[in-house]
Amino acid sequence: MSQLDIPLRGIDHLRFFVGNARQSAYFYRNAFGFDVIAYAGLETKTRHEAGYVLRQGDITFVLASPLGPEHPDSYRIVQHGDGVQDIALQVDDVAAAYRMAIERGAGGVQPPTLLEDEHGVYEYAVIRAYGDTTHSFVNRDRYRGVFAPGYKPLDPDRYSPRTFEPVGLHSIDHIVGNVEEGKMDEWVHFYERVLGFSQLISFDDKDISTDYSALMSKVVQGGGGRIKFPINEPAKSRRRSQIEEYLNFYRGPGVQHIALATDNIIETVRALRHNDVSFLRVPRAYYDMLPERIGLIEENIAELADLGILVDRDDEGYMLQIFTKPVEDRPTLFFEIIERHGSKSFGKGNFKALFEAIEREQARRGTL
Ligand code: FE2
Repeated sequence: MSQLDIPLRGIDHLRFFVGNARQSAYFYRNAFGFDVIAYAGLETKTRHEAGYVLRQGDITFVLASPLGPEHPDSYRIVQHGDGVQDIALQVDDVAAAYRMAIERGAGGVQPPTLLEDEHGVYEYAVIRAYGDTTHSFVNRDRYRGVFAPGYKPLDPDRYSPRTFEPVGLHSIDHIVGNVEEGKMDEWVHFYERVLGFSQLISFDDKDISTDYSALMSKVVQGGGGRIKFPINEPAKSRRRSQIEEYLNFYRGPGVQHIALATDNIIETVRALRHNDVSFLRVPRAYYDMLPERIGLIEENIAELADLGILVDRDDEGYMLQIFTKPVEDRPTLFFEIIERHGSKSFGKGNFKALFEAIEREQARRGTL
């Protein structure tokens, strides 16, 4: 760690701003296997919004909805639809982190603030990131409550423990941001300059991304490698840009996908599919070339093909991944489920493999 780094311990939580937090909590609980652990709202004397805290492993999501148009963020619902509002980072010293970030050019949203209740003191501050997304700096060393002042443990009558099934997700692997065409380097520099991140150069940083995926991507990491943020921008290519579509529907830059890690992707994806989570379809032809492309892996390829799980390899190992369809009506935020076996890459080899698989299927149909 250089002296310029703001000491970041890791990701504390993600705050989603949504149209109906009560129903989103049901979705993330019953489909994605999160436990709902805390609530803030009218019953806990929070007048402006309802908030639900969800947890699975080390992953914490907060789902918040405004209770009226006077909520300072209520415009987000019309503008962006449901999406990630804040990526909260745990720090040793909120005031120092905020001061350093502002000195290095970050935009301030909320100066260092202490919230207090009978469980102690919760400190936070907020800076701007891409689009309307923000980063909170959070310190909860002196707080012993369930999440933060204002939040209370969920009423035990609310959900039946019988209906709760975790699916094996344990941590956030990476969070991807989509930014406007030509802005990727600007945001890479923001993370380097303001937060002391470094750019992660991996073997898959080649032109395949432009040729096959219609996007350009660079990865920054911080917090001793515990925080990884790939940044995408649209690129001119053979295919229409999925990033452009996101930017059109989200009305600007924002979080595109959140990759959640599991130690058993087959079990996790089986459980998610059972819970009606929809995943992107993978052409059968993708698996024809898999043994040749990937070599020996522990998993059974027929089982991976059955579930639509993708595999990529680099010189350090391999990884398995799968992408959900967008989880709201707009084609914006989606999730990735990932299991790593040594590989530190993000699966760019799959862009080319998927593209070629689609072409092989077209060739079979005589439509190429
Ligand atoms: Fe990803």
